Amino acid sequence: MPFGKATEMIFIVCDGQIVYMNDTGLKLLGASYAAELIGKPIMAFIHPDSRDLIRKRIPQVLEERKRTALIEQKYLKLDGDILEVEAMGLPVLYRNLPAAQVYARDVTKRKEMEEALFRSQEQLRQAQKMEAVGRLAGGVAHDFNNFLTAINGYAELLMARVQDGDPVPREIAEIRRVGERAAALTRQLLAFSRKQVLMPKVFELNGAVTGVSEMLRGFLGANIEFRTSFGENLWPVRADPGQIEQVIMNLAINARDAMAEGGVLSIETQNVVVSEPIPVGTGQVPPGSYVVLTIADTGCGMDQATMSHLFEPFFTTKEKGKGTGLGLATVYGIVKQSGGFLLVESEKGKGTTFRIYLYRTDAEVTEEAPAKGRETLSRGKGIVMVVEDQEEIRNLIVEVLAMQGYTVLGAANGDEALRLSGAAKKNIQLLLTDLVMPCPDMSREMRPRIPS
Ligand SMILES: Nc1ncnc2c1ncn2[C@@H]1O[C@H](COP(=O)(O)OP(=O)(O)OP(=O)(O)O)[C@@H](O)[C@H]1O
Ligand SMILES: [Mg+2]
Repeated sequence: MPFGKATEMIFIVCDGQIVYMNDTGLKLLGASYAAELIGKPIMAFIHPDSRDLIRKRIPQVLEERKRTALIEQKYLKLDGDILEVEAMGLPVLYRNLPAAQVYARDVTKRKEMEEALFRSQEQLRQAQKMEAVGRLAGGVAHDFNNFLTAINGYAELLMARVQDGDPVPREIAEIRRVGERAAALTRQLLAFSRKQVLMPKVFELNGAVTGVSEMLRGFLGANIEFRTSFGENLWPVRADPGQIEQVIMNLAINARDAMAEGGVLSIETQNVVVSEPIPVGTGQVPPGSYVVLTIADTGCGMDQATMSHLFEPFFTTKEKGKGTGLGLATVYGIVKQSGGFLLVESEKGKGTTFRIYLYRTDAEVTEEAPAKGRETLSRGKGIVMVVEDQEEIRNLIVEVLAMQGYTVLGAANGDEALRLSGAAKKNIQLLLTDLVMPCPDMSREMRPRIPS
């Protein structure tokens, strides 16, 4: 055989039939003997996607006697699997008849590498998009939240002016109600963009799951079976327990919505030691000790397109009014801000599993302080300096403190605070200041100069 040892597949087609095939070709098409291919119509080995292309190229070789360009196409192996090749044909004579000699190279490996590269670029693009959307949402939500604090605060002040026993005017009550809803929405956006002020504690996850389970049972509906499985001697974790409960709720509500026909929702906690890094998105869960919270449903599952937008704020497949698309964005932000990892597995029609990896901590579990009821503000006297750059917030704080009997000095920045404190002749008893101020050096400067 003249071409027996070639690394390319080489074959000759005459009158629409395979008349010669080299060893590489036999191997690639999955044949043990030449007789399995010789005499067979070539079209039987061409994938339907490539048949039109080949039909166009045949006259070029046989009639025009021209070689064709190297082009990617799909062949079919004997067992029906696809063989991706790039191939070209040359005009030859076979037993004095016009024929085509075809050279084809297996490109499956290269294709796989190209696809892997494409996937990793796609993941990177996705991660960058999340970062950008997060910055945008966070920026807007942060400023908006400040305005809302002022709006809600003034509404609160107005309500406080209503005499005991008198009804609160409906308009004020409405401002408060809508203001609270707006605040809840901005909190979700802040959570997504990881700009939320968390109150981390060391706690045990089983307690959080038990707490939420009570509530969950109530609204899951009769056709959903709810199972819990609590890991024994669970390691403590450091996170904001209220936020973790929020995570469980959001995931459980999604699970319920995915099981309109009924199914099983299971929540599981477990100590897990990761010894090999687990890939997730563009990063990985590094080796270490984790407490893993798994929330799984047997619902409708998701296709690839849904999965690729899952954590974007305002991405929802639910009809208008049913979902805001902020549930998973919030979950994503909380888990990230807690230093944890979020893994999703889902298949259309086969349910969905979310796994949250939180680092094990060796710190002692934080004791719960007894919950305080709503207190009335106590009155006092003395001079308080309020340093806050956001004017609306500063005015509100000044007003509230003044109402309670304090003399208040409001300053927009460190410079102004220093000037005012000089004029007040060291009589300031308390400094109330924003944590992050536009002029970073001042945070250090101010401490020793202003008397406590
Ligand atoms: N467990 C699940 N099974 C199937 N699809 C899911 C599941 N969880 C989320 N999804 C899909 O992801 C989308 C986004 O979920 P997300 O929680 O962010 O928003 P939402 O549930 O649509 O609205 P919101 O939570 O704000 O009320 C959903 O609309 C749904 O298509
Ligand atoms: Mg949701």
